[in-house]
Amino acid sequence: MRIDIVTALPQLLASPFSDSILQRAQKRGLVEVHLHDLRNFGLGKHRQIDDYQFGGGAGMVMMAEPIFACIEELKAERSYDEIIYMTPDGQLLEQPLANFLSLKKNLCILCGHYKGVDQRVRDHLITREVSIGSYVLSGGELAAAVLCDAIIRLLPGVLNDESSALSDSFQDQLLSPPVYTRPKVFRNWEVPEVLTGGNFPAIEAWREEKALEITKQRRPDLLED
Ligand code: ADE
Repeated sequence: MRIDIVTALPQLLASPFSDSILQRAQKRGLVEVHLHDLRNFGLGKHRQIDDYQFGGGAGMVMMAEPIFACIEELKAERSYDEIIYMTPDGQLLEQPLANFLSLKKNLCILCGHYKGVDQRVRDHLITREVSIGSYVLSGGELAAAVLCDAIIRLLPGVLNDESSALSDSFQDQLLSPPVYTRPKVFRNWEVPEVLTGGNFPAIEAWREEKALEITKQRRPDLLED
């Protein structure tokens, strides 16, 4: 998979991709992530990328020209399965969307800033708009990092324990059961006995029961379908 991220703040995105699982996925050649600085496509000697909005109102709007110039240059090199714009009014990111996008070959992600981007970008360039939740971030970069993490960890070979992405919360519309590690007793709090007894069908049954109990308590909406 290849992911191109178009941003006015590439340095904000450098760190999430240079550590831990996202770094390992790149080192293993399972994903290529390329950051593109929108400023390089800015207009004039100040490399302008935003301007006042027509009709007045607070906040700058990201201009169409630099965004089209950058993304059209990328599109000339390869075709993209999706050109995604990160925005609080987009489709809510949930596990099925991450699963769907993890099957794609080339993704391009545009990070918005200021008051947003010129509507013509959204109308004529973007194929999908994604929100990571009902709150407003200062820009789309952190949202893009969240989206990429949710996608990349699903790619075969990224996680060491192949089964672990499948047993994530949400993969089967259930939250995850509690987990424990050593010591068996910590400050008089004991690990549930079933987990240390070696009876694997009983352990599986306990985990299913706990997952259901927790989902009923915290996210009954997940059980509605
Ligand atoms: N940009 C600003 N806020 C956002 C959000 N909640 N989701 C995606 N992109 C955003």
